[in-house]
Amino acid sequence: MKTPTGTDVKRCVDLLQKGQVVALPTETVYGLAANGLDESAVKKIFEAKQRPLSNPLILHFLHAEAILPYVTDFPKELQHLAQQFWPGPLTLLLPKSILVPEVITAGNVKVAVRVPSHPLFREVLSQLDFPLAAPSANLYGTISPTEAAHVSEQMQQRIPYVLDGGSCNHGLESTIIGLEKDAIIVYRLGSIPIEAIVDATKLPVFVKNHSGAQPLTSGMVKYHYSPDTPFYFFDIHVTPEKNAGFIFFNKTRAAFPIENQFILSETSNMEEAAQKLYAAMHAMDQKGFSQLFIERFPEAGLGKTINDRLNRATAKYEK
Ligand code: TXA
Ligand code: MG
Repeated sequence: MKTPTGTDVKRCVDLLQKGQVVALPTETVYGLAANGLDESAVKKIFEAKQRPLSNPLILHFLHAEAILPYVTDFPKELQHLAQQFWPGPLTLLLPKSILVPEVITAGNVKVAVRVPSHPLFREVLSQLDFPLAAPSANLYGTISPTEAAHVSEQMQQRIPYVLDGGSCNHGLESTIIGLEKDAIIVYRLGSIPIEAIVDATKLPVFVKNHSGAQPLTSGMVKYHYSPDTPFYFFDIHVTPEKNAGFIFFNKTRAAFPIENQFILSETSNMEEAAQKLYAAMHAMDQKGFSQLFIERFPEAGLGKTINDRLNRATAKYEK
């Protein structure tokens, strides 16, 4: 049985006020939301997502000012980025105040906060007097959802409702950023390309998203975002089987049946490719192909974020 899906904002608000979990659209991907100040509501998110409690959650707020009680410091350099990118797909790591439950940060001294821009998510937030904790609304380790149907298929009866806001605009998760000494650290590549962060700050910018023994964010876990169908880069030395499917950036290949190919952007538009990527992976995963191949993207702008996700999604099937 699929989760009920609809556009009833009031129903979402009621459920959230009662400590339930609902899926909401954001401009990046769908999120599994609950009252971020209610420990038992937050624990329901972990259960529904089958996510280990050691992996912390992002708190979502309507305005930057609403964050202030929940942090003990908001460095100027990060405020400056917030002014440029909020509301939008930027997540900041800030030192948490005692008002943030431990379950949110999994014991970390910093809390991840974000002000989303999606009008439906904001409408829900505007009717609540608490921030919403929300990870991506997929089961742990699988492809993030960018359409309501992706969530309702995966979540089934584990949550009561999915608010349908259509396809997510960006289609890739938020960019996660913090400050270490006097440098901007990117912990997860995301919808805001790294070049835009570099342009927006005078500080040096470093990317620190490699998988280690103790990943700080799930963007650092090596295996993630994986389809069920064995998934490979098109450029590695694996010969496609007869029943293989292909996801290409901008053009089909004559060597393969046309119906086995998905083109992300015929006009080579990277934003369009990013927006459609997860939906293409979901759709191709359901078509019964014996293998899936995807083209590696140019290593610039959103192409870097896309390649980062694809590296993790293919790692599970590496030969
Ligand atoms: O675009 C997004 O950020 C979406 C939408 C729903 O807002 N959310 C999202 O959440 O992608 P999630 O939980 O799937 O990924 C958030 C990442 C995780 O890798 C988590 O480990 C990391 O942020 N994170 C959260 N709180 C953290 C903290 N206090 N310290 C370090 N990493 C944190
Ligand atoms: Mg996620």
